[in-house]
Amino acid sequence: MEIIKTLNRMSAWAKAQEKSAKQISLVPTMGSFHEGHLRLMRRAAELADLVVVSLFVNPIQFGPAEDLTSYPRNMERDAALAREEGVAVLFAPDQEAMYPDPPLTRVVVSGLSAGLCGLTRPGHFDGVCTVVAKLFNIVRPAAAVFGEKDYQQLAVIRRMAMDLNWNIDIVAHPIVRDDDGLALSSRNRYLSPDERQSAPALFKAIKVARKMVRGGIIDADRLLAEVETIINMHDNIEIEYLSIIDCENLQVKTRIDKRSLLAMAVRIGGTRLIDNAMLFEETEGA
Ligand code: PAF
Repeated sequence: MEIIKTLNRMSAWAKAQEKSAKQISLVPTMGSFHEGHLRLMRRAAELADLVVVSLFVNPIQFGPAEDLTSYPRNMERDAALAREEGVAVLFAPDQEAMYPDPPLTRVVVSGLSAGLCGLTRPGHFDGVCTVVAKLFNIVRPAAAVFGEKDYQQLAVIRRMAMDLNWNIDIVAHPIVRDDDGLALSSRNRYLSPDERQSAPALFKAIKVARKMVRGGIIDADRLLAEVETIINMHDNIEIEYLSIIDCENLQVKTRIDKRSLLAMAVRIGGTRLIDNAMLFEETEGA
C-alpha cells in the first residue's frame, strides 16, 4: 500500500491508473478506523480494480464549538488496518496540503442540507461537500462508498454528484452495529462506561418503532412519542432531534409508508451520536 500525502502525487497516480484502464473506488474517511470503515473498504474492493482510502480530518466541516482538535487520530494504526484490507493507496494529506490557502469556495447543496443535522451544525454539509468534491476531482473514482449512519450526508453527496454531473457511482453501505445495537462511530470512544451503557437506547427505540409499524401504527407523532419516552428513560441522554422523514427528499412525514426513515441525533454527556433506520425494513435483530 502506498501512502500519498500530496495532491499532485495523488492526482498523478489516479491519472496513471486511468491510462492503464484501471478503475478506482474511493472511501472518504476522517480516520480512526473501526469495523464500519473496514466494511466500507471491503465493499469498495468489490466495485473497482483499486481502492483508495482518504484520511483527512476536514476542519471546514467542524463548527467552532465542535471536537476538531480532540477528534481521535491514529495514523499508524489506520495505515496498518488499511494495508490489511488490501487498499492500494491511503491518501492522507495534511491541512496545508488540502487547503494551502483558506478556501473561498464552498459547494452548497441547499434544501437537503438545511434540516436535521444542518440545524445544529450550520455550514457542516458545505464543508463536507467541498472536501468530497475536491477528493472526487483529485482521485477521479468510478465509485465512492459512504456509510448510511450519516444518512443526510449520503443524501446530500448523492445530490451533489447528480447536480454536478460527476459520473461516480455513490454507493451506500448499511450501518454496522455493535452486538448491543449501537451504531459504530469513531466518537463512541468518547463515551464513559455509564454513557456507553445508555447508548444502545437509540437502537432499542428503533426496534420498538419498527414493531409498532408492524403492528399497524402509522401515525408519525405516536411513534416519535414512544421513541422519545424510551430515550428519555436515560438521564444522561439529551435529544437533539427525532424525526420521521422521507428517505429521498428528507421531508418530514406525518404518516409512515415504505419510504419512511426514523432519524435521530442525541448528546450523551459531551458526545453527539446519530442513528437512523427505515421503519418498514427488517434487519437482523430489529
Ligand atoms: O463521513 C466522514 O467521515 C466525513 O464527513 C467525510 C465524508 C470523510 C468528509 O470529510
